Amino acid sequence: MEGRISTSILLCLVLSGVGAIVVDIPKDEYEYARGDNITLPCTFTTTVTPKSVTITWKSQGAEFHAKSDTVITYFYPDGEIEVGTKYQGRASLDADVSKGKGDLKLSSITLADNKTFECTVLIPRDAQGITADSASLVVLVAPSTPTCTIQGKAEYGQDITLKCLSAEGSPPPTYKWVSRDTNNMPRALDPRTTDQGGILSLYNISKDTSGYYICTSSNKIRSATCNITLTVMPPSMNIGSTAGIIGAVAAVLIVLVIIIYCCCCRKKNKDEEYAMGLHEDEFHDKEQTTNGERRHIDGQEEILSNDAPNVKSAADRSDRNERDYDDRSDRYEERSERDYDDRRSDYDDRRSDYKDRRSDYDDRRSDYKDRRSDYDDRRSDYKDRRSDYDDRRSDYDDRRSDYSDRRDKNSDRYDDKRRYDDRRDHRLDDDRYDDRDRPPVPALKPPRKDYKD
Ligand SMILES: *[C@@H]1O[C@H](CO)[C@@H](O)[C@H](O)[C@H]1NC(C)=O
Ligand SMILES: *[C@@H]1O[C@H](CO)[C@@H](O)[C@H](O)[C@H]1NC(C)=O
Ligand SMILES: *[C@@H]1O[C@H](CO)[C@@H](O)[C@H](O)[C@H]1NC(C)=O
Repeated sequence: MEGRISTSILLCLVLSGVGAIVVDIPKDEYEYARGDNITLPCTFTTTVTPKSVTITWKSQGAEFHAKSDTVITYFYPDGEIEVGTKYQGRASLDADVSKGKGDLKLSSITLADNKTFECTVLIPRDAQGITADSASLVVLVAPSTPTCTIQGKAEYGQDITLKCLSAEGSPPPTYKWVSRDTNNMPRALDPRTTDQGGILSLYNISKDTSGYYICTSSNKIRSATCNITLTVMPPSMNIGSTAGIIGAVAAVLIVLVIIIYCCCCRKKNKDEEYAMGLHEDEFHDKEQTTNGERRHIDGQEEILSNDAPNVKSAADRSDRNERDYDDRSDRYEERSERDYDDRRSDYDDRRSDYKDRRSDYDDRRSDYKDRRSDYDDRRSDYKDRRSDYDDRRSDYDDRRSDYSDRRDKNSDRYDDKRRYDDRRDHRLDDDRYDDRDRPPVPALKPPRKDYKD
């Protein structure tokens, strides 16, 4: 439209013989990738032979009321070039007035160059006509390599989504998912699957859903891909692993219980052994007591010394047992720290069991003490008997002295009698006399020296 008007104006002007200028940028929009070195073309025609020409490029942002900046200004015939502060080192002009060319060259364009560029040509004495034209520059950004992610559990029967996103891209990239099976052969996706904005939604996935998923992110200028390998696991496998863990835990618990049971058994056996040992010891005590009784005629001290080790060993035993119990309870506490709460009651049971056994042990101990006191009773009994014996002994001594007295008397009488017999018939029977006058306690026979001599 504008072109036609300007052409007609130009025609009119040409026909009227008046100079007319027409400036033109061939396209309204130019697309280039970011970082490219670009050229924006600008042409002009004039009916006069210009003595001087000024070509100016300005840029203006798309924002409302955006200020325009001068990119570059070229003065003909001086060849002088002025570059705007924002385009220093990047902008240049490819100008040829005779050919009506004033192209703008921009290097390493950025997203900031997404602007409208206007080319203005000023020729003195040719101010009528179309002195400027503009075009917009679209700086494109290739999509960055997208990232592919899985959201959800890759298990049978689950609904999951695969996400694909490029960090940048201008214009914004579009995404497309394709799938390949485990043999890397292309395949159609399940009809219910949706692919929107880089989000691929998979419903009720199964083993067949496994495979490769490739996302392509693309815009006008380029494309980039990412891929993901989806392995859908049967949920039973996870249940299986859970069951495996539970089983392992159960096995550990069983082993623990067995170990504890064995420990208890050993403890029990020890107790029984100990109980047997106690009886044996008691037996020894009795034996030693009888020995003592036999021996103690020599002295009572020996019995006491015999007794001392027994007392000591009993104390030892109780000490050892106490320590054993402590050890075991220590170990038990260690274990219980590792144990689970639900085994707490079990523990309490065993503990009370333990207490029972302990009280059992205490019972046996008191039993043992009873027997000991019993023994002490017997000992005191023995002492009684001993004193009794001593009494009897002193009694005997008394009687002995008594007997001696009587003997003296008897011998006196005997002497008398002898003298008398000597005098009478000399027939006295010594034995008969002995039988008659022997003392009633012959335990320790008095020496018969007196008779023989
Ligand atoms: C653009 O031009 C600059 C020099 O101004 C050069 O170093 C760079 O390699 C060019 N880039 C391209 C994509 O041609
Ligand atoms: C999911 O797929 C299985 C077969 O793979 C089918 O038996 C089941 O009915 C499906 N469930 C739903 C909710 O579609
Ligand atoms: C998937 O991506 C890797 C790099 O991440 C690449 O080596 C492989 O060729 C890709 N596979 C497919 C099927 O695109």
